[in-house]
Amino acid sequence: MGMSNSLMHILAGYASIVDSYLWERIRGDPGYIYKAATHLLRAGGKRVRPAVTLATASMLGGPTAASVAVPLAGAVEAIHNFSLIHDDIMDRDDYRRGVPTVHRVWGEPAAILAGDLLFAYAFMMVGDSRARGLRRAEEAYGVLAEASVKLSEGQAYDMMYEETWDVGVGDYLNMVYLKTGALIEASAKLGALAAGADSSVVSAMGEYGRMVGISFQIRDDILGVYGDPEKTGKPVYNDLRRGKKTILLIYTVEKTGRERVEKLLAEERYEELASLIRETGALGYAEDLARRYMERAIAILDGLDDIKDEGARGFLRSLARFVVEREK
Ligand code: IPE
Ligand code: IPE
Ligand code: MG
Ligand code: MG
Repeated sequence: MGMSNSLMHILAGYASIVDSYLWERIRGDPGYIYKAATHLLRAGGKRVRPAVTLATASMLGGPTAASVAVPLAGAVEAIHNFSLIHDDIMDRDDYRRGVPTVHRVWGEPAAILAGDLLFAYAFMMVGDSRARGLRRAEEAYGVLAEASVKLSEGQAYDMMYEETWDVGVGDYLNMVYLKTGALIEASAKLGALAAGADSSVVSAMGEYGRMVGISFQIRDDILGVYGDPEKTGKPVYNDLRRGKKTILLIYTVEKTGRERVEKLLAEERYEELASLIRETGALGYAEDLARRYMERAIAILDGLDDIKDEGARGFLRSLARFVVEREK
């Protein structure tokens, strides 16, 4: 856990940099909508995505690039929070980051708007980065737009799959790349753009983010069943309640057939289902799968040259490892 402690320390450092920027930037009237928009930001969160942006910029371009990247780091966290606010409406979730969700406090109409506000702010933040010296602002806008499109497509699959059992591992991996991987991919690419990296390096870092993102969501699925709500800030079993086709459920159904799983779900016997998921090997399978993506992410980092900040590369390696073993 020593390594993990130092990782959390570095993560907190990146978080404080991006937070100072966000607090300064996201202000206006009417006050209630800004309160709603910043409610989850104020409640906490790991700030993994902005950390990826800042560390990538620093790794490839040093401190000047990292400073150019601060608004881009803000932008990915803004899009992330927008997606969380809307996701909690879609998933009918009442708690996140240990606090009641935005729609629970302000109602759905205000929550939709609070999300929209953050989404729009993200694009203004690219302009801030340009003012700090970002040369490839147009590419940065494109990266953010593409990630947002993919995120919405992924969320659409996620909802569609609630209604069917006809979801394979391939469908799942595509869905989680879209809903979670694409934004982490964008986070890494934006850091590389801030550093003025070659397009091959921008792509390589995108691939790193994609691999981290997929393993991140697999771990999220695991924590949704076996996590400690005190640590995660969200309740367990909600994915099961909603009929989400997580990797755990897809694999379990492949092993036992639908009937047994459907019966446990219908009777809300979630603890027994959690045991069944272990017994079928689905938990171990998901852990292995997450680890394989993590190893690919690390191999990509190891293959880069012209590193300006080895410490930042070390951080990105540790982050990939953290993602698959995190408890929150
Ligand atoms: C939660 O993301 C939603 C997913 C994409 C799995 P995080 O686990 O990064 O949430 P915070 O930002 O730390 O609260
Ligand atoms: C993660 O959604 C992806 C997005 C929010 C876009 P989930 O619904 O799987 O994540 P949690 O568990 O609510 O954080
Ligand atoms: Mg959700
Ligand atoms: Mg969801």
